[in-house]
Amino acid sequence: MCVCCVYICVCVCVCTFSTSLLSYRRPGEPPLVSSWVPFIGKALEFRKDAHKFLEEQRRKYGDVFTVLIAGKYMTFIMDPLLYPNIIKHGRQLDFHKFTQEVVPSTFGYPPVLDEVYPGLWDQIRRSFQLLQGDNLSPLTESMMGNLMLVFRQDHFDQDGGWKTNSMYEFCSSAMFEATFLTIYGKPETGSRHVEMEKLREDFVKFDNVFPLLIAQIPIWLLGQTKAIREKLISYFLPQQMSRWSNMSQFIRRRSELFNQQGQLKDVHKLSSHPLAHHFAILWASVSNTIPATFWAAYYLVKHPEALQVVRQQILDVLRDGGVEFSPNRYTMLSRDQLDKLVFLESSINESLRLSSSSMNIRVAQEDFALRLDAKRSVDVRKGDIIALYPQSMHLDPEIYEDPQTFHFSRFVQDSRGKTDFYKNGQKLKYYLMPFGSGSTICPGRFFAMNEIKQFVCLLLLYFDLQLEDEHKHPSLVSNRAGLGILQPSTDVVLRYRRRAQ
Ligand code: HEM
Ligand SMILES: *[C@@H]1O[C@H](CO)[C@@H](O)[C@H](O)[C@H]1NC(C)=O
Ligand SMILES: *[C@@H]1O[C@H](CO)[C@@H](O)[C@H](O)[C@H]1NC(C)=O
Repeated sequence: MCVCCVYICVCVCVCTFSTSLLSYRRPGEPPLVSSWVPFIGKALEFRKDAHKFLEEQRRKYGDVFTVLIAGKYMTFIMDPLLYPNIIKHGRQLDFHKFTQEVVPSTFGYPPVLDEVYPGLWDQIRRSFQLLQGDNLSPLTESMMGNLMLVFRQDHFDQDGGWKTNSMYEFCSSAMFEATFLTIYGKPETGSRHVEMEKLREDFVKFDNVFPLLIAQIPIWLLGQTKAIREKLISYFLPQQMSRWSNMSQFIRRRSELFNQQGQLKDVHKLSSHPLAHHFAILWASVSNTIPATFWAAYYLVKHPEALQVVRQQILDVLRDGGVEFSPNRYTMLSRDQLDKLVFLESSINESLRLSSSSMNIRVAQEDFALRLDAKRSVDVRKGDIIALYPQSMHLDPEIYEDPQTFHFSRFVQDSRGKTDFYKNGQKLKYYLMPFGSGSTICPGRFFAMNEIKQFVCLLLLYFDLQLEDEHKHPSLVSNRAGLGILQPSTDVVLRYRRRAQ
């Protein structure tokens, strides 16, 4: 409640100073969704249920309309057939401006401006290559070992009875720790970092206020958040990190980059330090992966017939590689083997389709006519935001029949990934966009996909699985609408038991 008041407060401040508010619509501009509280625009309604809100506007105003949200004019392009024209990188639309403005203050580092840190921004972006291509193989291999370690030590006990655990907690603890070990490396002694649970607790506290921080609510209005963030950031102190072994190439490269920057070296000023960059990567690498893993696992356990097919394919792929699965042995799945798990991949894609809500944002660099298709264009003004909201596409009954239902094989055709989806009889170039698009598309998407596959493989191979309450279905919490994978409204209780031979 309190947080809500804060939000209104800030919106009013922002909007009062926004002169564009006084401007009127010009001919050629998209229709403006009118609001009865002009100062707040449609921010609150949008936050409550973005998908529903946008669908209502689409019915009233058509496929392209402008909404005033928290002081910003945002033009939504709702027809996915128009996406390719927006995603194409043009000189007039900037993909990075928006994130460059809001992300640094969220994580507590100064904006990476070329004037201050020449060339750094480009080099940071180039480091993303280390999550992809050939570099994905060592990461995937390391992740497999780390997941195996966590499963073995936390979940493999000898008595073969049923155990229960909250499912989100299960996914969260295993994925958080295994991802951390894979990306940042192992502690000096022992195979696991001792403070991992504490770190995750603080992380969750930070993550819970993340939607407010990214909305530019000042951190001092958010209780303990600043102290928690400092604590999280200080986890990456150089004297600490230098003791970790088997750190990923990606983090090693980034540390190197920051070390080369004289200005960033001030160890005592935590908030302006490269440590905050490391913390931002921790957030990026687990905040979406955890709920995505939950939904993938949840939907399979909820649909035993699907789970059976997926599990059989995993066993078959192992057997084709010359390994007969045994619950008493380690399991290794190579990157190539993970690629062959089409039913698992389709199930994950299907759960991403049902749970993702990312918004793709570009900022107009000048007043210009944005071409939508061969016939249509709309005028936009410098500084306006052009937004794609793929959740509307993901839940469009014309593209996905029975869109609210989980169909595990929806993305399989002739034992391969299905790629033809249609709207108005035309084949869509983009039909699934949980990872964003264009030049800001998530650089960790291949790693994310593989680690979710690995988690689900281990879960299905080593355990019999049931939901304690089969009739309970968590809904999506919409406070992260536009920011990534939505979290479940409630946890569910997972029953699991070591599988016999
Ligand atoms: C299911 C899991 C994940 C989802 C759904 C996801 C989704 C996204 C989305 C929607 C964006 C923003 C794209 C845009 O602005 O258009 C993004 C950015 C990013 N993601 Fe992911 N992500 C996931 C996992 C990961 C993982 C595992 C890593 C790293 C290991 C990662 C690293 C990043 C980074 C570094 C960025 C910022 C890229 C930039 O600055 O341009 N993500 N992600
Ligand atoms: C260390 O990392 C490499 C990849 O960078 C991986 O292949 C290897 O399995 C890892 N070793 C351990 C002990 O985790
Ligand atoms: C799953 O989605 C990704 C894009 O997010 C795509 O590259 C891949 O081909 C899809 N796989 C299947 C089986 O649909």
